[in-house]
Amino acid sequence: MKDFKRYLITAALPYANGPVHIGHLAGVYLPADIYVRYLRARKRDVKFVSGSDEHGVPITIRAMKENITPQEVVDKYHAIIRSSLEQMGVSFDIYSRTSNPIHHKTSQDFFTTLYDKGLFEEKESEQYYDEKAKTFLADRYIIGTCPVCGNPNAYGDQCERCGSSLSPEMLINPRSALSDATPLKKKTKHWYFPLQHYEAWLKQWILEDHKEWKNNVYGQCKSWLDNGLQSRAMTRDSNWGIKVPLPDAEGKVLYVWFDAPIGYISATKELTDNWKDYWQSEDSKLIHFIGKDNIVFHCIIFPAMLHAHGEFVVPDNVPANEFLNIEGDKVSTSRNWAVWVNEYLEDFKDCEDVLRYVLCSNAPETKDNDFTWKDFQEKNNSELASIFGNFVNRTFVLMHKLCNGKVPKLHEDVMDDIDRALIADIKSAKTKVENALEEFRFREALFEVIDLSRKGNKYMQEKEPWKKKIDNGELTVDRKLVDNCLHLCLQLTANLTILINPFLPFTAKKMLHMMKVVDKMLEWENSGSIKLLSVGYSLRSPEILFRKIEDKEIQMQVEKLKNGLVQAENTASNAKSETQRAESVEPSALSLKPTIQYDDFAKLDLRVGKILSAEKVEKADKLLKLEIDLGFEKRTIVSGIALHFKPEDIVGKQVVVVANLAPRKMRGIESNGMILMAENAAGKLIFVNPDEDTDAGSGVS
Ligand code: MF3
Ligand code: ZN
Repeated sequence: MKDFKRYLITAALPYANGPVHIGHLAGVYLPADIYVRYLRARKRDVKFVSGSDEHGVPITIRAMKENITPQEVVDKYHAIIRSSLEQMGVSFDIYSRTSNPIHHKTSQDFFTTLYDKGLFEEKESEQYYDEKAKTFLADRYIIGTCPVCGNPNAYGDQCERCGSSLSPEMLINPRSALSDATPLKKKTKHWYFPLQHYEAWLKQWILEDHKEWKNNVYGQCKSWLDNGLQSRAMTRDSNWGIKVPLPDAEGKVLYVWFDAPIGYISATKELTDNWKDYWQSEDSKLIHFIGKDNIVFHCIIFPAMLHAHGEFVVPDNVPANEFLNIEGDKVSTSRNWAVWVNEYLEDFKDCEDVLRYVLCSNAPETKDNDFTWKDFQEKNNSELASIFGNFVNRTFVLMHKLCNGKVPKLHEDVMDDIDRALIADIKSAKTKVENALEEFRFREALFEVIDLSRKGNKYMQEKEPWKKKIDNGELTVDRKLVDNCLHLCLQLTANLTILINPFLPFTAKKMLHMMKVVDKMLEWENSGSIKLLSVGYSLRSPEILFRKIEDKEIQMQVEKLKNGLVQAENTASNAKSETQRAESVEPSALSLKPTIQYDDFAKLDLRVGKILSAEKVEKADKLLKLEIDLGFEKRTIVSGIALHFKPEDIVGKQVVVVANLAPRKMRGIESNGMILMAENAAGKLIFVNPDEDTDAGSGVS
């Protein structure tokens, strides 16, 4: 293995278009912070950088929604995000922002270097244009009806209701989000980065040289590389972003995914004059912590840019995580289905480490995982409080009661196998935690720490020092046994402090205070030792490390989540007034979809079905769950028609069903197909069904 002198750890720059939620913490900021705290404890030379991502469409969309300027958006959310992460103990060396002048200059210089090397392709293409607003439209700015679920407010890149990824061409009745005009195509020039030129290099670098990358990351890279790479535009038509540093580029800015990762470089420059040691020296190890939606940018596009530039190191690893769901459902910021970190911090005072614990022990390291409030309570009450906290508390209480508040001696002559086994466990815990951390297996590492405290409890239970007779202070065998038990439990507590510190730094601080020792004890090399606390040293009284979390606190959170959802859905449906809707759904030849061939049509399997039952879907005011008889089988189909029909009114109706549509989960229910509906100019839905009743299952063609 290569010997690295320096570490540069980056955590994805969050978009400053909203607060951070616990999915961000679990996927990116906590694992990065744990790793950095561990490296610091090992006295490695490490810098930890991040900052707010303040450009791109996500920012301008938010500005539009809140009816404020993009600058006001980023100022507002930069402050909120920064403070949430800081309060959660995420210990950046710098948390910067991409609006800083140093970043504008760094990314423009980067662009110019690639440009001067002749590495861009200049191409004209047709892009959607809004004639009323006189501006090009990013896909996100085009709104229309989702062809999959019928959501009338789907975006040109994605439907937030059913999650389908879309392109503007797929939308029914597309309209501009700025003016409601129908988008037209217009020519525009952009600078493209030909990723295909770096394919061979990328294949060697990732697929051959980095077989150790996590499966989820390696697999995604392999599939991108196997499918072949293409040129990607590195500029956009917009007035929000970093100006393209070329004379003929009026109204053009750098693509946000071009500038944002360069933000890691700018932040390092801002942090230290020695930034080149971290970015341009082969003995520096660069590691990007990100979520899975960022993999292609950090493993393919940005490394290709760095490689093309020529002066930079490329990442040694990109330990991306999967997603954290909430109570069984995908996080959706637009539906307000999320647990916001700033709100958590207000609702649970002094419980930062509890959240850190729960999110790390349930981190989506290899697959998507679920966060539930019940599990949060359970993990706090029966792991943190009852195992770890309880061990430390018992040790301190008994030390005060049986040993005068001082560290007792270790009497070798009465040591037995149980003592020796505990000492061996203390030593091996260090190695286990270390090995797991080195390979980014944070859940496992944390489990090993808790497991060591579990062993402490078991040891105490076996030794039962409270049952010994030691009233007279004489050095009897019982006295020695009590001393040994508490001596080892205290040394174990000191070890737990070192081991838990990267994960739960606030708890480690409290433990240091109780033991009256300084931060230096936290150095990683000290763990495994049973000589951390000196005999005769007097210690403070215990503090409760973790309080119990009550049922009613949990109920409140569950309710808050549900109320937030209902509110978000109501605002979404009120937002489009009926007149607005009537205007925008006016049928027009312009919005006709592109021509398809017969073969495309023949792929559809359309059948007549009969609605057997219909019921409302909980927490979703627009969805109905339908049971449909297709003759040869019965199907469950979830349909977005609840605002238009009462369930009891449609039972028994016949309807045309797309019978071979891939199944899709909505609100936890698997939907197997789609029903067809006509929609008139006023947005009213009308059943599409045969003129006279026919057998369920009849084909439609
Ligand atoms: N803002 C992006 C997101 O939230 C992440 C940017 S990471 C960086 O998905 F590398 F570009 F900075
Ligand atoms: Zn949809």
